[in-house]
This record gives sequence, structure tokens and C-alpha cells, in this order.
Amino acid sequence: MKTWRGVIEEYRDFLPVSDKTPVVTLFEGNTPLVPAPRLAEATDARMQIYLKCEGFNPTGSFKDRGMTMAISKALETGARAVICASTGNTSASAAAFAARAGIRAFVMVPKGAIALGKLSQAGIHGARVLMVDGNFDQALTIVRQIAERHPVTLVNSVNPFRLEGQKTGAFEVCDQLGRAPDYHLIPVGNAGNITAYWRGYREYHRAGRVRELPRMVGFQAAGAAPIYENRIIEEPRTVATAIKIGNPASWGPALEAMKDSRGWVDIVTDEEILRAYRLLAREEGIFMEPASAATVAGLIKSIKAGRFESGSTLILTLTGHGLKDPDTALESASRPTTVPPQIDAVLAQLGL
Ligand code: F0G
Repeated sequence: MKTWRGVIEEYRDFLPVSDKTPVVTLFEGNTPLVPAPRLAEATDARMQIYLKCEGFNPTGSFKDRGMTMAISKALETGARAVICASTGNTSASAAAFAARAGIRAFVMVPKGAIALGKLSQAGIHGARVLMVDGNFDQALTIVRQIAERHPVTLVNSVNPFRLEGQKTGAFEVCDQLGRAPDYHLIPVGNAGNITAYWRGYREYHRAGRVRELPRMVGFQAAGAAPIYENRIIEEPRTVATAIKIGNPASWGPALEAMKDSRGWVDIVTDEEILRAYRLLAREEGIFMEPASAATVAGLIKSIKAGRFESGSTLILTLTGHGLKDPDTALESASRPTTVPPQIDAVLAQLGL
């Protein structure tokens, strides 16, 4: 049996690493590509729909692909500390990989707008966590300035190595599917991941590994849709806190990815997100966080609008695990019922 070695070793030829790069890995990547038959039935049976379940990465989100690169390269240049702003997942991943590398992590998250699981991860891995009384965009501005003036390496996706690592998601999809899909659907927050996937598909195409290129389709939450609305959103709002971003760092490249690939950007409301969130959990048995459900909500909306050619193969990146955000899950599920420790009372509740 061949053991998975993490994305740097598996895709070394496509990544800016050398013999001198100290590889810091948690054996990220190799996430399952899960068919979604019920979703296909409920929408259009002639579509092939697959879910790239990135929540099954070591820290529970796709960020680990970029972080193995960012931390390895930081270590190569002798860095002893890293810093990032985050809506939660980047901070969890940075904290874990920094711990693995034996260096410090400083993370800044928006107060009151970060899911519980993510906050607990950053803390337990030993990061210094600062909660800013403001939003993600403000936190990012601050950490960028700090990294310019102090001996700490910025590991947000403005660090070019992050996107290099994240593009391996596209390589894996092609390897698992045996081709590139017709459409790739993905949630958009700071806009790094859609940029990285498009880069990955193009590189694989150029290397002759696939013959096709997908159309890149991005989804933003309706209350946090700067790219869709073509303006900075000063006070973004959405239940999907991971993508609650009003001024994405990779705005330009993401727009280019959608244009070059003949894709598009659309919005989904919080109501649509939560409906898709429950649907995915109940109908497919897959528990992903609300930002990931934005993609499923987008799928449903786009199919209703007849935007996909029939018979197409669609990939949806589900970016983060549902356990990241237990509060939203509990609010979205039916309440547990308390019962006395007596079989009759239990049977009465079960209707058996
Ligand atoms: N989905 C999840 C679960 C995320 O955590 C993020 C981004 C996105 C989607 C959007 O990806 O930013 O590349 O467009 N989370 C960042 C963070 C901002 O700080 O964890 P993007």
C-alpha cells in the first residue's frame, strides 16, 4: 500500500520547493471526492455531481494545503514566527502547522464573528490569539503592516506560497476524476481559493495531464458580496462567518479566473445557505460548515436558472467541516427532548 505523503511530496514537481525546503506536513490533502446522487436527483438527474470534501483535512479545512507550503517556506527562510488575520480556519491551520514546525503563531480574529471550533483550535495549538473589535478586513490591514515592519511572516493568502499549496486541490480533483470537470463551484471569501484552483487546473492542462478546463463559478453570501456587487462592502453580514469579507485580497485574480474560464459569480442568501446546509447533512450525510453550504445553495440556484449544460460534470469544493461551527448546527437542527429514565416515556417520545 502506498502511503500518502502530504501535498508537497505528492506534487513536488509543480511546487516551488527544493531539497533545502524543510517540509512541514500534517499529511494534508488526499481528501475524498464524494458523489452526491441525491443532490443530482433533486436538481437534475443528468448532472454528475461530486463533492470535494476539504473538511477532512487535518485541521478540518482546505487551508492546510496552503499552510504546509507557507510554513515550510517560512522555515526555509529562518522565520521564527508567523502572523495572520482570519475568519477562523486560516488561524486554526496556521496554529497547527506552526506548532508542528516549532515556531510561534500570532492570529487576529474578528470578535464575535468566529465559529467556536476554530477558536478552540487556534488556542489549543498554542497560538497567541487576539480578538479585534472590528471585522476581518480591518484585521488583515493591521497584520499586513506588522509583517512589513517586524520579523514575522504573513501567512494569509497574500503570501504567494499559500495559493501554490492550495492549487493542489485542483490536481487531486483531476487525478480522482481522471479528467477536469466541466464546472467547478466554490465559495468566495478572501478569493484566494478560486484563484488557486484555476491556477492548478491550468498548470495540469499545460502539463498535458488533462485535456479540458472547467468553468470556475464562485458564490458569495448576499450580505458579503463585494465581487458580485463590484464595490467594497464596509460592513459585511452573513451567517457564513468564514466568508464574511468585504474587501477580498485576491479580488482581481479571482475575477480573472471566472472571466478566463467563462465562469461567473453569483450570490446566495443566508436562508438559501442554511437550507442547503441542512439538506447536505440530511440527504447526503455530509456535515460541512455554512460557508461550504453556500456552494450547494449556489448549485441549486444555478440549476433552477438553467445555467449548466445538461450532462455536465460538476465539482463542488466543500471547504470546511461542520464541526467547526457547532452553534449554527444546533440552531439549525431540531432540539433534543429531555426524558425521564423510564422506557415508557422514551417509547412515547419515539412513537414506537
Ligand atoms: N470556506 C471556508 C470554510 C473558509 O474558511 C474560507 C476562507 C472560504 C470558504 C473562502 O475562501 O478566502 O480563499 O475565498 N476563510 C479565510 C480564513 C478567510 O481566515 O479562514 P477564500
